[in-house]
Amino acid sequence: MKFFIDTANLNEIREAYDLGVLDGVTTNPSLMAKEGIKGEENIRAHYKAICNIVDDNVSAEVIATDLDGILKEGRELAKIDDKIVVKVPMIKDGVKALKIFASEGIRTNCTLVFTAGQAILAAKAGADFVSPFIGRLDDVATDGLELIAQIRHIYDNYGYETEILAASIRHVMHLIKCAEIGADVATCPLSVITGLLKHPLTDIGLEKFLSDHRKLNK
Ligand code: G3P
Repeated sequence: MKFFIDTANLNEIREAYDLGVLDGVTTNPSLMAKEGIKGEENIRAHYKAICNIVDDNVSAEVIATDLDGILKEGRELAKIDDKIVVKVPMIKDGVKALKIFASEGIRTNCTLVFTAGQAILAAKAGADFVSPFIGRLDDVATDGLELIAQIRHIYDNYGYETEILAASIRHVMHLIKCAEIGADVATCPLSVITGLLKHPLTDIGLEKFLSDHRKLNK
């Protein structure tokens, strides 16, 4: 399973990368705004700074919602660095753009996916990644993990190569369940990645090992 970090914060990206388990980064316009990144040049520079930290897979989202705009913006984003994956919303012109980007060798991540039908469309259009939002479905009393399982089943039925990128992950159990189901990628906040480290019995056990060692090695 690949781990992506869902943030535009450079310090958090560096921290996750330094752990040695990071395979990529996902951003979105809200995450860029949270970091105060505004203006075309600053946004491009920020994506480049992210690409300079990680090895691959930096999702950069288009703002345009019409086909010409999505294509123009996506091509510009892809020029920033070979590591860029153009993030395209699941709308009619987005689906058309996915197909065109695929024919041009530009990698894509189809975002804002909330149904299996949308995931089928994304795969048929040639998206490299599909991003179903687990947490936001849970927020409206729908089982987000069930959607991941449904998409896994459907993609396996037909051998679709689009990678299932489980997004809107809110806690460690979301990530573990996604791994059980067979999501290809999980994108999470730093707290979820570092949360995987934690268990009270690990802390208690380590303290006991060290205190036993200290007793004999004063
Ligand atoms: O980047 C897309 C997704 O992961 C957003 O998550 O927590 O805003 O629903 P969230």
